[in-house]
Amino acid sequence: MAGGSFNEKHKQYPGKMTIFVFLACLVASSGGLIFGYDIGISGGVTSMDPFLTRFFPSVYAKEQEVVETNQYCKFDSELLTLFTSSLYLAALVASLFAGYITKKCGRRVSMLGGGIIFLAGAVLNGFARNVAMLIIGRVFLGIGVGFSNQSVPLYLSEMAPANMRGMLNISFQLMITIGILAANLVNYFTAKISGGWGWRVSLGLAAVPAVIMVGGSIFLPDTPNSLVARGKEEKARAMLRRIRGTNDIGLEFDDLVAASEATKAIENPWSTLLERRYRPQLAMAFLIPTLQQLTGINVVMFYAPVLFKTIGFGGTASLVSAVITGGVNMIATFVSIATVDRLGRRKLLLQGGTQMVIAQFVLGTLIAIKFGTSGVADISRSYAIGVVVCICVFVSAFAWSWGPLGWLVPSEIFPLEIRSAAQSAVVVFNMIFTFVIAQIFLMLLCRLKFGLFYFFGAWEIVMTIFVYFFLPETKGIPIEEMDRIWGKHWYWKRFIDDNRKVELTSTAV
Ligand code: BGC
Repeated sequence: MAGGSFNEKHKQYPGKMTIFVFLACLVASSGGLIFGYDIGISGGVTSMDPFLTRFFPSVYAKEQEVVETNQYCKFDSELLTLFTSSLYLAALVASLFAGYITKKCGRRVSMLGGGIIFLAGAVLNGFARNVAMLIIGRVFLGIGVGFSNQSVPLYLSEMAPANMRGMLNISFQLMITIGILAANLVNYFTAKISGGWGWRVSLGLAAVPAVIMVGGSIFLPDTPNSLVARGKEEKARAMLRRIRGTNDIGLEFDDLVAASEATKAIENPWSTLLERRYRPQLAMAFLIPTLQQLTGINVVMFYAPVLFKTIGFGGTASLVSAVITGGVNMIATFVSIATVDRLGRRKLLLQGGTQMVIAQFVLGTLIAIKFGTSGVADISRSYAIGVVVCICVFVSAFAWSWGPLGWLVPSEIFPLEIRSAAQSAVVVFNMIFTFVIAQIFLMLLCRLKFGLFYFFGAWEIVMTIFVYFFLPETKGIPIEEMDRIWGKHWYWKRFIDDNRKVELTSTAV
């Protein structure tokens, strides 16, 4: 039951994984680098004094004044978090436009455009002379991220052969984690630059992943799915032959054409997405990104140094610990890459979810025992190491479950006719909740204290139950065949009308 029983035999297209596909996916996944670099960079930069005195003098003055013994409430400056999270607001708006461009002009154009705008943002930020340049730069970065997160996961899932789709798609998440780690390391070194311009290096170096992305997408081919949908059938056929490394692509090509025919009948993909028959996809487009953010991962990614300072680490120890969690995040992603197409998505999500729950509850309890509600304590070295270990256990679980699968699963479950719009919705919800958590975390820490960790732990229980009952397995199923899974699911089948059920079962191989 519970969606795990979907093991009917599916069409197996001939063809293999080619070097061409591998390289194309590697290049495309560099879109993850720009996103990751952003996630990792701002926390460190906004804690650099020269940056604060120059752009946010009032925040700096306040920070100097605060004589607060309650650790939970030590750090709290909404202006600064608003600056950090403005990027996510820009990204969410941009992803809506990106949906249209990705559909009309192809996945590659969105990636290229996103890369160029991001590059402009990096340059503006690196040379910023005033707050306006800083904010406009950040908005540009956000637009770049919106375009890239909307188009890259789709690109990867469409290029990949079904039996390796998980692995290839997760290269996006791997790049996100590399971006975060690189940013943590850059901050660690630039914070030491004595001339007070280290923050310029941190912000300006965002240009590096942007150049990789722009350079790469100039040469990238578009996906056969997108070429067919835009009426370029011959080109699509040639591309499919090339990426599958065989001439025997008839079956897969026919499915692409059939999917594209369905697309033509659709005038407005947004209102289509709201139709009852797409209820399972709509629910997933909302729930998967939202729950991914409610794991609380970005509390660690954005605020690791602050969190570590809160429990009494010194400045350098905090930055080092942030580098450690960043490293664990990256390395653990490989577990997912290696297992996702064999174990399937559900097993990873169920295991990862359970591990996150345990880690959060232990963490909350460790902090409760020491700090209680007063928030005043001195913790020993071994106790502090225990806390860091707990955070690493949590981060690694995220890194092989909700991190990569939060992007992979949505990108593979939408039928072509609503794929681009639905993926925009995924980015929108992801960004909204990234924004909300970034914005309210410090306030929540101050109010809920150690209970904050129980709060996220409770959400992780909810999401694990959700996966168990409502998420069907998608491993190995060709992307244009995916709509079969809903008609067979104990709950979602009620939204699939009977004609469609017959049609789907009669064409099953
Ligand atoms: C999430 C980000 C998160 C990152 C951590 C991504 O999948 O969307 O919000 O910061 O993983 O590695």
